[in-house]
Amino acid sequence: MAKLCVNVDHVATVREARKTIVPDPVGAAVVAELAGADGITIHLREDRRHIKDRDLHLIREIVKTKLNLEMAASPEIIGIALGVRPDQVTFVPERREEVTTEGGLKVDSQKNSLREVISHFHEKRIPVSLFIDPDPEQVRASRESGADYVEINTGKYSETKNESEEDKEFEKICEAVKLSADIGLRVNAGHGLTYKNVTRIARLKEIEEFNIGHNIIARAIFVGLDKAIREMIKVIQHQ
Ligand code: PXP
Repeated sequence: MAKLCVNVDHVATVREARKTIVPDPVGAAVVAELAGADGITIHLREDRRHIKDRDLHLIREIVKTKLNLEMAASPEIIGIALGVRPDQVTFVPERREEVTTEGGLKVDSQKNSLREVISHFHEKRIPVSLFIDPDPEQVRASRESGADYVEINTGKYSETKNESEEDKEFEKICEAVKLSADIGLRVNAGHGLTYKNVTRIARLKEIEEFNIGHNIIARAIFVGLDKAIREMIKVIQHQ
């Protein structure tokens, strides 16, 4: 059964809207684990627009399940991550002007540099995931770079406006998921997923873990975080 890692960046985004101390993503991580989440995902961005170094260190201390750190492959963040030792790192592309991660990593154009960075994490026994678009070239390049996992970007699928567009994007995801598993990569998925659109993706048996944040936190405003997380777990597991 696929697992759910809850992305608590969005709690920090609300805090940073006022540059204050609440709501605290550390508290959200505790509630998420109590509600049954299998892991906590955070993204320490270079501009620290939501998650701060303080959040990362505290969340590392308190998480009892699994801490997945999303990060750019930049020297500063790599240094921090190697020191903090998350249970998994996920490399994502990062641009300051974007609102959220847009598109997957172009692994094929940076295979050699990624291979070297990945080896540093492997020396510390930290598995590495690469966030990629559902594109066979990127899947193969991820394998060649030595990554353990790929996280298939479901962002485009989630943004589709009608059924036929969604079907097309879903097909691409299916093919990328199957190819990844066939060539020995473990598979995660995420970005933009909702209580509705995750159902058909959750039927793909090769997917081990979903990283979901925004839609859960949006629902939590109305029903509470505990309930919102339990409902997402149910949706994912009842496929
Ligand atoms: N996976 C990756 C690589 C991401 O960058 C994000 C957003 O931080 C997510 C998953 C979660 O996306 P969402 O918040 O839209 O559920």
